[in-house]
Amino acid sequence: MSSAAVQPAARLAGLPASFFFGLNQTIARLKAAGTDVIRMDMGSPDLPPAPFIVDRLKQALDNPSAHGYMPMAGTPPYKAAWAEFYGRRFGVELDAGTEVMGLIGSKSGVFNLAVAYVNPGEVVLIPDPGYSTYTAGAIFAGGECVYMPLTPANHFLPDFAAIPAAVWQRTKLMWLNYPNNPTGAVAPLELFAEAVALARHHGFLLAHDAPYTEITYDGYQAPSLLQIPGAKDVGVEFHSLSKTANMAGWRLGVMVGNPQAVAVMQTLQSVGEGGQFQPSLAAAQAALTGDQTWLVARNETYRERRDLVVSGVRAAGLHTETPSAAIYVWVQLPPGVDDAAYANHLLEAVGVSVTPGWIFGQAGRGYVRLSLGTPTDRVREAMTRWQAWAKPH
Ligand SMILES: Cc1ncc(COP(=O)(O)O)c(C=O)c1O
Repeated sequence: MSSAAVQPAARLAGLPASFFFGLNQTIARLKAAGTDVIRMDMGSPDLPPAPFIVDRLKQALDNPSAHGYMPMAGTPPYKAAWAEFYGRRFGVELDAGTEVMGLIGSKSGVFNLAVAYVNPGEVVLIPDPGYSTYTAGAIFAGGECVYMPLTPANHFLPDFAAIPAAVWQRTKLMWLNYPNNPTGAVAPLELFAEAVALARHHGFLLAHDAPYTEITYDGYQAPSLLQIPGAKDVGVEFHSLSKTANMAGWRLGVMVGNPQAVAVMQTLQSVGEGGQFQPSLAAAQAALTGDQTWLVARNETYRERRDLVVSGVRAAGLHTETPSAAIYVWVQLPPGVDDAAYANHLLEAVGVSVTPGWIFGQAGRGYVRLSLGTPTDRVREAMTRWQAWAKPH
């Protein structure tokens, strides 16, 4: 038997194909043909972390004992730094020893949570549109994905009352994500309180994915799920320095909250992953506990881009809300317009790359998502091209 005949495990068949793999190929073709492509598709910050964070990494690299294996789930100082951050930012007290675990990027924890908790046939409640790793983890675990539509009519918040009793009975895990990717929506604390009460009542694990709480505009402050009294009894929260401190490539995530869930996830992590690199953990500590004032100017840069995009797409004849957090603008296309075709035409015609809404789920159809992690002059240029293209369109 040749190796080409070896079939991958059946469980992989249900996983969604990576949209960005195909997009990267299309963009490579366009670039090779001379098109100047402006990427507003991926949510990767273009700006670097503050110099004091990078300096801390450089300094830590010189320590000869910094290169060995590190403890699973983060060093005590890394976990203590997250606990300090939660105390300062949200007034949430965390035991760094039992209620905080380091993750190699929050994505790995988001995926593994379903692997750790969901049995075949159990329900995972997932926002639609939503970050695709919620679905991938649930499918991998053999769970049943039940989607909670996020619509403009509900301010992109799930309607818990619409979920049938039979679904609640089989629910093992619920995902929430605010500030939200891809809609840019934010949630009031009342939504979290309702979700905590439901988790307690129906006996499921509540997971809040919160990587965008530190990117907010116009005075808005995003809350943590753990601000709800008793949330730790039923819930965990994921956070990350990827967007918080422009450190997406560094893979510095965290899961905080319910101590049993932390213990379970640490066990899973210990069999398939390793600890993180000590110098990057040292730099992360600096990012979390050092001077935070640089984030004001960083957020102001995103705010300027947000305003350029919101006014730009409106001038192109499309509808969008003005998001008060996160790095995305969620743009509604005219009725009947296919988002995949629209995004593809925009890319092929004027070299502006946006993400079609379908990749975030059925309720994303008819939308495109723009990321603000693109230099401001390029955002301006993208809007000029888009408007010129939209005119005769
Ligand atoms: C909603 C959401 N959750 C999790 C992640 C993963 O972030 P990390 O870089 O920490 O893995 C992202 C990244 O884009 C995201 O948008």
